[in-house]
Amino acid sequence: MAAAGAIMATAAMTAEAQQVQGFVHQQSDASGYEWPTDTAVINKLDQWRDLKFGVLFHWGLYSVPGIVESWSICSEDVDWISRKGNMPYEEYKKWYWSLADSLNPTQFDPAQWADIMADAGMRYAIFTTKHHDGFCMFDSRLTDFSIAKGPFAGNEKSDVTRHVFDAFRDKGFSIGAYFSKPDWHTEWFWNPEFATPNRHINYKKERHPDWWKRYQDFTAGQLGELLSGRYGRLDILWLDGGWIKGDDIGLDSILLEARSGRHPGLISVDRSIRGRNENYQTPERGIPEKQLSYPWESCITLSNDWGWVPDAPYKSPEKVIALLAETTAKGGCLLLGVGPTAEGLIEPEAEWRLRAVGEWLRRNGEAIYSTVTTPIYNDGNVWFTASKDGSTLYAIVTPAEGEAMPRQITWNGNEPKGRMTLLDGRRKLSYSTDRNGVTRVNLPKGVKAGPLAIKFRKR
Ligand code: GLC
Repeated sequence: MAAAGAIMATAAMTAEAQQVQGFVHQQSDASGYEWPTDTAVINKLDQWRDLKFGVLFHWGLYSVPGIVESWSICSEDVDWISRKGNMPYEEYKKWYWSLADSLNPTQFDPAQWADIMADAGMRYAIFTTKHHDGFCMFDSRLTDFSIAKGPFAGNEKSDVTRHVFDAFRDKGFSIGAYFSKPDWHTEWFWNPEFATPNRHINYKKERHPDWWKRYQDFTAGQLGELLSGRYGRLDILWLDGGWIKGDDIGLDSILLEARSGRHPGLISVDRSIRGRNENYQTPERGIPEKQLSYPWESCITLSNDWGWVPDAPYKSPEKVIALLAETTAKGGCLLLGVGPTAEGLIEPEAEWRLRAVGEWLRRNGEAIYSTVTTPIYNDGNVWFTASKDGSTLYAIVTPAEGEAMPRQITWNGNEPKGRMTLLDGRRKLSYSTDRNGVTRVNLPKGVKAGPLAIKFRKR
């Protein structure tokens, strides 16, 4: 029942999300989850589930004009793919490819990124090493279509991915590589002999097995580069573009080699492809309706877009905290999408919001990090989490934005016993529980409006 409910919720959520922007990957259904058997992977997954909060960077050619990531070169007639003016499609693609000549992020400062994200309370970082457009943000030896070959070539940080990963490792983050299996730039995926009508390969594998083989070798080769050690130890391989399966590119053997070599326990996220190589699931732009017992992560944008766009309608810090509370209470992690500017910085409008989230987490993080779920996990805008041993419960209250703080917080179930405190400031709280199991907590005067967390023991 719970699982069916969750799937329906995901379907509803993705329809709405699709109107906002972008193609949204369906979450695989619960029956498709397969627990890993490699103990190193199980251990890493366990550690990852404690982190709760991460960042997903989208940075690439699309950051120059500030448009939807990659998708505008895909000739599918849908609302969320808008194209420049009335440019004919072929001309448009040429213009888009030529952005490789203008992406020159002279202010690229991965230390600034890492400083902001660490301050925001994030604990893992995933970076777009290559998006669907095929433009590599790492120094691939297998193509010239990369940040390391254009105007940025001479820069000491031209192998961008390495510098991003190093900066985040320095701050103690777990590291994930986003990599798109589809690649619309290589001729072995979209071959110039034919038109490119949609996201798929534009030829028949049966007729051109050699092209397909070259695509497979190219893709496996690039993954090999990312896993070669040049980019340090990876914790997560986050594979996007589920219309190509891991099996299509020999993911099993890539993982086997990586895990037995430099990347023990590497978590594989073959998104929306059920089974052994989807070590956690990735509902997108929304949170499942109910708790899920297997590992999952909601990826949600800080604005409406994954990449940088001008005048982005950013979510408030309170909204992000509410998303984090809900995700945690349902047993998942929150992966927040942030788009650096074409110059290579996190813009101030994103930065202050992220730092404000971190300010809250410094005072209330005990209710989030390394917590586990508890059966009664929600009542209205109150979300419950539990300490690992289950002895302590946390109630995270997420009032609607702009709402004045009530004098009393009320919830049903999870009856407290003994001492109760406000996490922020460790102040003792008075409360009562009535015969129907309804608890009323009195908030002291002067509590700031906004999310707060309460700590107590369960009766
Ligand atoms: C979707 C989109 C892709 C984006 C990803 C991020 O799969 O296709 O553009 O990178 O979501 O979650």
